[in-house]
Amino acid sequence: MAAIAATGGLLFGFDTGVISGAIPFMQADLNITDNEIENITTFALIGAMIGALVSGALSDRFGRRTVILVAALIFLVGALWCGIAPDVTHLMLARIFLGIGIGIASFSTPLYIAEISPARIRGTLVSMFQLLITVGLLGAFLSDSAIADNTNNSCWRTMFYVGVVPAIILLVGMLILPESPRWLLSKQREDEARKIMCKYEDPAVIETEVESMKRDLQEASNQMSLAETFKSRWMFYPMMLAVLIMFFQQAVGINTVIYYGPSIFQKAGFADSEAAVMAQVSVGVVNVIFTIVSLFLIDKLGRRKLFFLGMIGMVVTLLMIAFCFTNLDTMGDTGRYGIVCSMLGYIAFFAVSMGPLGWLIITEVFPIRVRGVGSSIGSVANWTFNSLIVWTFFKMITSFTNHFNGNESYGTAGVFCVFALVAMAGIVWGYLYLPETRGKKLEDIEAHWKKGGHPKDL
Ligand code: BGC
Repeated sequence: MAAIAATGGLLFGFDTGVISGAIPFMQADLNITDNEIENITTFALIGAMIGALVSGALSDRFGRRTVILVAALIFLVGALWCGIAPDVTHLMLARIFLGIGIGIASFSTPLYIAEISPARIRGTLVSMFQLLITVGLLGAFLSDSAIADNTNNSCWRTMFYVGVVPAIILLVGMLILPESPRWLLSKQREDEARKIMCKYEDPAVIETEVESMKRDLQEASNQMSLAETFKSRWMFYPMMLAVLIMFFQQAVGINTVIYYGPSIFQKAGFADSEAAVMAQVSVGVVNVIFTIVSLFLIDKLGRRKLFFLGMIGMVVTLLMIAFCFTNLDTMGDTGRYGIVCSMLGYIAFFAVSMGPLGWLIITEVFPIRVRGVGSSIGSVANWTFNSLIVWTFFKMITSFTNHFNGNESYGTAGVFCVFALVAMAGIVWGYLYLPETRGKKLEDIEAHWKKGGHPKDL
């Protein structure tokens, strides 16, 4: 059941990543500018923000299964619409539409998985979700590179069509799967809930599970409203932590590499679109491998150590990218390959730290009564900062390039220096404020905020 539902995670990764390989061909085919590319890429993120905002209320009202079914339909239609889009305007509309599916999946899938998992393995199944996003990204890079064809500029359309396949798997799979028992309980449909639980839960624990779900639902019905959350002084630290961890996760520039990787390779001098799209596969592979590494490290090393390891590594590799760009003329091939290697190092440091940390911290720092509101503030912050960075990347390159008398390599280096500066600021912020939540009970974290404790003293 979790495997089918997790296809939602795969699609989230696939549909955010597929654009990277499509861009070089789309630009040649439709004759579009870097700024239009930024719009097409960003519109999906804005759609995702809308999807994430509405899916909490929708999945409470209509049920998790129905909402994921709708997301699967959106993925299906969105993939076809992107593929047949005749011009930039259609592409932007299609991407907003597809983005809504991504936003819904990013919220409802982990929720559904958590609610249909046996208690024993719930944590593992839920954390697999982040891994599946990276597998989806890799799937998109692989499929893009298999389709990329220098002799056929319209090959980008096929890249989008491929998204139809996982969408159909999700759609058919979800038609077979049952509704979440927890949601059924919240609608007083207890008999149906028990019947479904019999299919996956040990019969000996069903009674205790039903009781504990009822208790949880009782707690959840006392949820603090958004207004109350903002008014409570002791909510300042959890809120600041959730928003700023997502700010730093995005503002170190991760998605410029994930979405625009092939375009960056082209700026580094790999003129051939096909080769640039193929190089992006290595970004996807490193991302998956180091996400797996982080699953092992996160509870061993703790959050703070992993944070500093990742951020320091990112500062160094970002400065290396900038160095290679500034010396491209003199370094030639060494510079070009230096950029690829530094980018892979940068991805590895991100995947092992900030990738999973961002999503983990937002589930840990909020008291139970605001966990729902809190996580959605975190994910909306994530999509907002993501959109801002992705929407301004080429604009920043252009303005730095103008500043350096038209030297685009210097311009690109300048932007990576800005990301390195942000990462340095992140290190200072983390040193002052990032709490060590490893092994802490969520109730103890809540009590710490209530008595006015500082995050670092947790
Ligand atoms: C981030 C995404 C990013 C992905 C890369 C996630 O944690 O939130 O924005 O694309 O990691 O693996």
